[in-house]
Amino acid sequence: MKNIITIALLSILFSCNQQNSDITAELQQRITNLEDKIGNAYKPGLGELMGSIQMHHSKLWFAGKAKNRKLAEFELHELKEIIADVSTFQSERKESEQIGMISPALDIIETAIKENNSPLFERSYRQLTNSCNNCHRINHYEYIIIKVPEVPVFGNQEF
Ligand code: HEC
Repeated sequence: MKNIITIALLSILFSCNQQNSDITAELQQRITNLEDKIGNAYKPGLGELMGSIQMHHSKLWFAGKAKNRKLAEFELHELKEIIADVSTFQSERKESEQIGMISPALDIIETAIKENNSPLFERSYRQLTNSCNNCHRINHYEYIIIKVPEVPVFGNQEF
């Protein structure tokens, strides 16, 4: 009788173990699938993000000069978003740690737009452009020189 009980208990235990290892294997497979998906997910490069920053830097100038407040605010917002993306997607690049250096200029531009203050807008825009170049210089990209734009890049947008 004792033997029968022992055998019964052992076989219950064995089947529980079997079920557990089936669940573990399934979970492991799911983790592997998720890791594959994350590994293949699209992640913008720093140069790509800089290309977007360059575009909005230019549009911000023409919107600000035209006293197109809503568009200027929109372009400023876009710039801030991409700057946040630099920290999110390119945190492993040491240059990304310095991205905050353009924030003071952006804050003054925001005030200038709000107050409809053209001289302040121009001054703070030049300050912003200088901070672009300062970061390029200290990171040995001194040949990437940003300037106040002369003509809008996009002929298909009204400022
Ligand atoms: C935190 C430092 C930093 C700041 C601030 C910064 N950049 Fe850059 N920028 C870089 C680095 C680093 C690269 C080189 C990226 C790469 O390796 O592809 C770069 C590259 C560029 C490029 C070259 C991209 C290309 O394909 O031609 C442009 C244009 C550019 N930046 C524009 C700007 C503008 C405009 C600003 C200011 C609004 C700015 N950057 C602010 C670090 C910075």
